[in-house]
Amino acid sequence: MERGAMQIFVDKEGPESLTRQVYNGIRQQILTGMLPPGRQLPASRKLAAELGIARNVILDAYDLLYAEGFIRSAQGSGTYVAEGAMYSPSPEPEAVAAEPVHMGYDTPAGKINFRSGTPDLSLFPVKIWLQLLREGHVRYSVEALGYGHPEGRPELRQAIREYVVANRGVRCHPDQIVITAGTTQAIGITARLLLAERREVVVEDPITRDIRLIITNLGGRIRPVEVGDKGLMTDRLPTTPPAFIYVTPSHQYPVGVTMPIQQRLELLRYAERTSAYVIEDDYDSEFRFDGPPISSLHSLNPERVVYIGTFSKTLCPAIRTGYLILPPQLITRGREQKWHSDLHNVTATQLALARFIAGGHYQQHLGRMKRLYGQRRQVVVKALADLFGNRAQVLGSATGLHLCVRFPGIVFNAERLAEIEHRGARFYPAAAHAAQTRAYDDSLIIGYGNLQPEEIRAGLVILRTVI
Ligand SMILES: Cc1ncc(COP(=O)(O)O)c(C=O)c1O
Repeated sequence: MERGAMQIFVDKEGPESLTRQVYNGIRQQILTGMLPPGRQLPASRKLAAELGIARNVILDAYDLLYAEGFIRSAQGSGTYVAEGAMYSPSPEPEAVAAEPVHMGYDTPAGKINFRSGTPDLSLFPVKIWLQLLREGHVRYSVEALGYGHPEGRPELRQAIREYVVANRGVRCHPDQIVITAGTTQAIGITARLLLAERREVVVEDPITRDIRLIITNLGGRIRPVEVGDKGLMTDRLPTTPPAFIYVTPSHQYPVGVTMPIQQRLELLRYAERTSAYVIEDDYDSEFRFDGPPISSLHSLNPERVVYIGTFSKTLCPAIRTGYLILPPQLITRGREQKWHSDLHNVTATQLALARFIAGGHYQQHLGRMKRLYGQRRQVVVKALADLFGNRAQVLGSATGLHLCVRFPGIVFNAERLAEIEHRGARFYPAAAHAAQTRAYDDSLIIGYGNLQPEEIRAGLVILRTVI
């Protein structure tokens, strides 16, 4: 460690370069006023000799200080501390006091977590995925590292188009598709597109709380319409034309019912009459256990329906990839909204996913997961019957990664849920998603996608102990 007359310390073995050390030493003294404005700095040769380091190091440090305005040089008469560079910096913060955002579904350590909508994360096809990511980088290397287009890669839009045409009865051109960061972003984009002259948004009650929050954050006024055993109760739709109607017709979230054709047509007629768009959130219909997925609402009127799909349930939420299928009149503005949100999705992920679908891996994965979730659903249904008999009433259709269960006479308030969690399992109340109806105070959403059969049974035993 060398110390010069200027109170600078240099450590020749230290991790910082010598130039950086000299620069920092002088800079700090100027900022704190130890070296006041107008003070002459030693000649580079002299300071180098004092510190026992090369003169070039001092010259480089002076250059940096000069470039940042800390010092000035007067022609032929040396280097001086500049005016106006004194500042007392605030002390280093010891720890940042940032409150976590309470989303209501953090991962509780050591608890059996019945959170809905999470697929079995341990079965994500990591090997083939990494292989495709790697191949994508090799094949597309340079081009794929630059900026892309907001609507997403043509390879992925083409692959999604083929998938939705074959499996969801959707009729669309790849150019109607915009790749998004999940349903979450797709809802934001749609709301920004459609919340102009009209502010009211019809949503199913109950519906995912996050969806309501996104819409209200963007200036929408929520108009909840109750869900019955045929989905959204179309005879209760408001007479005032809404900006749009948000529905989950294939598998209502969280109740689980499927909207029959009569209600679908009723909804579409209403949308036509009021010149409103219908947003179809088709988040998990791939996992319909009694047969192939039922057709989309979109297939009935592609001009009126904005379709939203996601890979969060079929692959994993962290992939943050979903898509919007827009009617032709909304495509340009939809692309602009995506551009203004985040430019575009990560290119490498898009290319890997395109090849994952086109190569048949997606269908194969879906088939495997559908069998598995079907078995897990059976485990839940059987355990509920064994443990609760007719005190537990399963609502909804046989689809997806969760089911909604009613326990007549029981109220799932915060104390009861805390008691269950204390004993080792976390359950989620359906009432958290209700906008105004109190009809779900006795209901739980039981997510089974990411739980092993023995965990499911153990969790339901805990539930029985408490209720
Ligand atoms: C109704 C509904 N749609 C879609 C999603 C998926 O959201 P994302 O695609 O942003 O992960 C969820 C997630 O829980 C949901 O509850």
